[in-house]
Formats: sequence, structure tokens, C-alpha cells
Amino acid sequence: MEQNLRIPGPTPLPPSALQASARQMIDHRGPEFAQMQQEIIAGLKPLFRTENDIILLTASGTGGLEAAIVNLFSPGEQVLAISIGSFGERFAKIARAYQLDVVPVSFPWGETADPSVVDQALKEHPQVKGVLVTHNETSTGLTNNLAALSKVIAKYEVLFLVDSISAVGAIEMRVDDWGIDVMITGSQKAWMAPPGVAMVTVSPQAWTASRQSKLPRFYFDFAQYEEWMAKGQTPWTPAVSVYFALQNGIKLIKDEGLENVLARQQRVADYTRQEVRRLGLQLFGNPGIGFYSNTVTAISIPESLDGEAIRKSLRQQYNIVLGGGLGKLKGRIVRIGHMGWVQESHITPVFTALQKVLAHTEA
Ligand SMILES: Cc1ncc(COP(=O)(O)O)c(C=O)c1O
Repeated sequence: MEQNLRIPGPTPLPPSALQASARQMIDHRGPEFAQMQQEIIAGLKPLFRTENDIILLTASGTGGLEAAIVNLFSPGEQVLAISIGSFGERFAKIARAYQLDVVPVSFPWGETADPSVVDQALKEHPQVKGVLVTHNETSTGLTNNLAALSKVIAKYEVLFLVDSISAVGAIEMRVDDWGIDVMITGSQKAWMAPPGVAMVTVSPQAWTASRQSKLPRFYFDFAQYEEWMAKGQTPWTPAVSVYFALQNGIKLIKDEGLENVLARQQRVADYTRQEVRRLGLQLFGNPGIGFYSNTVTAISIPESLDGEAIRKSLRQQYNIVLGGGLGKLKGRIVRIGHMGWVQESHITPVFTALQKVLAHTEA
């Protein structure tokens, strides 16, 4: 029985992505690579809804977050770190690791960011140079209302950095309309590619900040990327196989049509949430002004049960792999990933199996 990998990334790949990533190597300093890189960037711009530059890094998503921090700021500068879960905390931790003065604006895990609280925090901290936000908090299955947050952030002269690692490509993103200076995503999420490439948008303001920033950097230095990408190359050896798959994933999204992809992601997520309720279970958290995520569904596990034991049974008896709870949510929730190459038919067996596992556990 083939494994049904339902973690929120890496995601199962369509056959064409598997074929693409198995292709023979090419010279990463030759014309074929230059052509591919140019095609990937041109393909991403409409999907991100941006005219900004896009940098491709050979790194997982976290490398993209680190790149954003080290290129935009100087030691001691103040950033407002909005957090609604584990990945929001990670963004703040990276900023702290690079000696930025982090003003945390943390909401309880299971809630989304309230724009009026963010507004107040920005009012109280006029020195803030940048705002860090997680678009889709993969650890809690909740999506921030980025359109609403962007309206508040636009009132201040700050750089707007968005971790959209598990959102863009599956959940609406409008980099330019929302005034986002740096937006980060990763190949293993909605892009139907293996892990290994982080995609980062850079606005003109972000370029200016990067030229003034004094944080130490080498591998992720935007100036190096600017120089080398103009020649159709990358400063260091890129994950060529992941580029092949990414190029394929972008083509798949383009062929289906972005609007259709977003509608399918919504449909599959609605179906997943409906199945949760059908089994008498509850979704974790309360989206408030935000949303339940269209890429990952977090299910609250009743007090009397252990989420880790449920995951183990699903894996051992049904070859279905779900995500567990991170940090303080370990055992309290399980998470179903549904981004990228996904249809309702991938989700149905999860609930068929979950129903049996629960019946057995409760018996
Ligand atoms: C919202 C979010 N941010 C950051 C990360 C970290 O990305 P990576 O594991 O690719 O470094 C993830 C990965 O799940 C994520 O979902």
C-alpha cells in the first residue's frame, strides 16, 4: 500500500514532478540553466502577484527567513514580530539570533493576529524598522488575515516581511497590493516540488534597506544574488533537481489556472473540515478575523485521547502519515496537510481510517 503522506510539507509529488527531478544534471553556469531560472522567475511573478524581483535560494524555507533578516537590518534595530504559533516564534528567534531588538506581539496559539493590536503596538514603538508576520501558521492550522494586517502596516514607514512558506500558491497572496517588501516561500509546500529551494521577493525598499544593512552575511547575501542572477546564474551551486521540479510545478499551476488552484484548495479544505465535524471532532482554534487554513487542518484531540497514539495507529495500520502537534500542542492536535497536488480523494481515506482508529481507541 502506497503511503498517503498527509503532513503539511514535504507534500506528495505528481508523477511529472518525480520525472522532472530525476532528469540528468546540466551545467548550472550554462545557457540551459539561465533559461530555466528566467522561466521560473517569470512564472512566479503572476502567482505572487508582484513586479518585484525574486531571488531563488538553495535552502529550505527557514533559510529564506534568515536571508530576509540578515539582508534588511543592522544590529540593534527594532522589529515587531507578530506570532500566532510555532513558526511565528521561529521568525522572531532568527531576528534575536542576529541581535535585533524584537518587540513580540504574540497571540495565543489557536488565534489569529488582531490588526488593532498590531496598530497599537506600532503606535507605541515608533522606532520599529520592520514587521515580521506569518501568513499561514502551519503549527495551528490558522491563516492570518493578511489583507487586513497590510492596511494597518501601510500606515507606518516599516519594512513588511511575510513568511508565506505554507500559503502562497494555495492561498491568495498579493505581494504588491499588500505592500509586502519581502515574501518567502519554499518549494516543498504548494509548489509540487521537493524541499530545497526558497523563493524570496524583494521590493525596491527592501533593496535599499539591504544596501544599508550591516548584519554579517555571506551565503544569503542579496548583493551576490543580484550580481549572479543578472547573468542567469546563482552565486553558489543551486539544487538543480529541485529547480527542474519547481519549473514543472509552476507549469502545472499555470495550466490549471491560479484561480482554479485556489478554488480547489478551498474546496479540499472545506471538505476536510466537514469530515472533521462529521466524525464529531473539533477544529483546533478559532480564526477570529483570520481563517481556518486551506493548506493544513489541525484537529483537536479529546482530552481522554493521545494524538501521538492516533498518529502511530494510522501510520502502522493504514500507512497514512499525519503531522503531529508542535511544542506545547504535541499530543493535543493532529494536522492534515492538503496543499499542492491534492484532491478530495486523497483526504477521504484519512477519515475512513481515523474513524476506525477512534472507534478502536474508544472501545
Ligand atoms: C509557516 C512556516 N514557516 C517556516 C517553515 C520552515 O520551513 P522549512 O522547514 O522549509 O525550513 C515552515 C515549514 O513547515 C512553515 O510552515
